[in-house]
Amino acid sequence: MSRLSAMQQPTPQQITDALAKVIDPELKKPVTELGMVRNVDVEGTHIAVTIALTVPGCPLRHSFEEQVQRELGGLSGIETVSTDFDIMSPEEKAALTARLRGGVNARTKGISLDRSTRVLAVASGKGGVGKSTLTANLAAAFDRLGHRTGVLDADVYGHSIPHMLGVHQRPVVVDRMIVPPVRDDLKLMSIGFFLDENEPVMWRGPMLHRALEQFLSDVHWGELDTLLVDMPPGTGDVSISLGQLLPRAEVVVVTTPQPAAQQVAVRAAQMAQTTNMRLVGAVENMSALVGSGEEIFGSGGGEALAGALDVPLLAKIPLDPRLRESADRGEPLVWEDPEAEASLEIMRLAEAIAATRREEGLGIVKSLPVVGASS
Ligand SMILES: Nc1ncnc2c1ncn2[C@@H]1O[C@H](COP(=O)(O)OP(=O)(O)OP(=O)(O)O)[C@@H](O)[C@H]1O
Ligand SMILES: [Mg+2]
Repeated sequence: MSRLSAMQQPTPQQITDALAKVIDPELKKPVTELGMVRNVDVEGTHIAVTIALTVPGCPLRHSFEEQVQRELGGLSGIETVSTDFDIMSPEEKAALTARLRGGVNARTKGISLDRSTRVLAVASGKGGVGKSTLTANLAAAFDRLGHRTGVLDADVYGHSIPHMLGVHQRPVVVDRMIVPPVRDDLKLMSIGFFLDENEPVMWRGPMLHRALEQFLSDVHWGELDTLLVDMPPGTGDVSISLGQLLPRAEVVVVTTPQPAAQQVAVRAAQMAQTTNMRLVGAVENMSALVGSGEEIFGSGGGEALAGALDVPLLAKIPLDPRLRESADRGEPLVWEDPEAEASLEIMRLAEAIAATRREEGLGIVKSLPVVGASS
């Protein structure tokens, strides 16, 4: 090798700096920090990099390839770049898991989330009121507000969120750590990813709580500002278990405009109280139809619920067929058409929720009036 070409070669520091800009798309950290760089070889003007992946057949290989090409192709003296892949050994996986877990200032047993992450459960007293649609669109809204956002689809009966957010890849499991798939900056985990169609039985028996606890503590969320949880409909065992495993979660209760909200309010309030979750407010969904303003499902339900629970009515989301159509396409309306009336109202809802963030260190949970119960 001539002296000249030797001088032109990048220094080890330059190579490390360039590799530090290659980010794992799911773990959102540099490959250098994750211990994924297995080998780097410089021969003349060619540089060959070997990345150790967590699983074989990782669907995100392409992203690594592109990033390595971009970051290392720009180094002085380098003309061609090649990327090879290898698989982490069990020891490497264990080291990676330990490193990632080390950064989390754990809340308690149960969900492995940093204390600073706000957990917002979207709940209702009954099914079909639009919880999942609102959860998916609220996630899109928080993302637009610049929050690092995660979505936990905890509906063991339905799990419709992956479809609504257009997430088709499966989670990656590394040494018992479950890495949520991403849609751009949004992280998504669904209990449905781990359920076979014939499994719902398990979600009723005594295994339920333990299975949920195991699942929640194995998911690696990384750094999040807000985690939205699509709760199962109703206030049964699953909801109560979840409430206990999501310490310091706050609840947004969704209802439809029918004024018969009283019963729903009682159940939702009781569940929140049992599990020590704070009620943030109520949301009325499927309110007056966009355009005509026709009140297809009646009116007054949101006000009645908010009044009964003594919490604010945070928003009234209009009935808009496009909310359903866009969800069916895997494109939340808030992303697809941010100017649509329903999108604007959901953005306002996200801002209203963000404004209620409880002051840091003020661990006081407002005691809830249980409607209908004698006090
Ligand atoms: N504001 C709205 N305008 C029009 N359609 C809506 C609206 N909100 C929800 N929908 C539609 O209503 C149906 C039920 O919504 P969704 O699945 O979100 O409810 P859910 O409360 O999650 O139901 P489940 O209890 O079954 O989980 C869906 O087809 C959805 O697209
Ligand atoms: Mg649902």
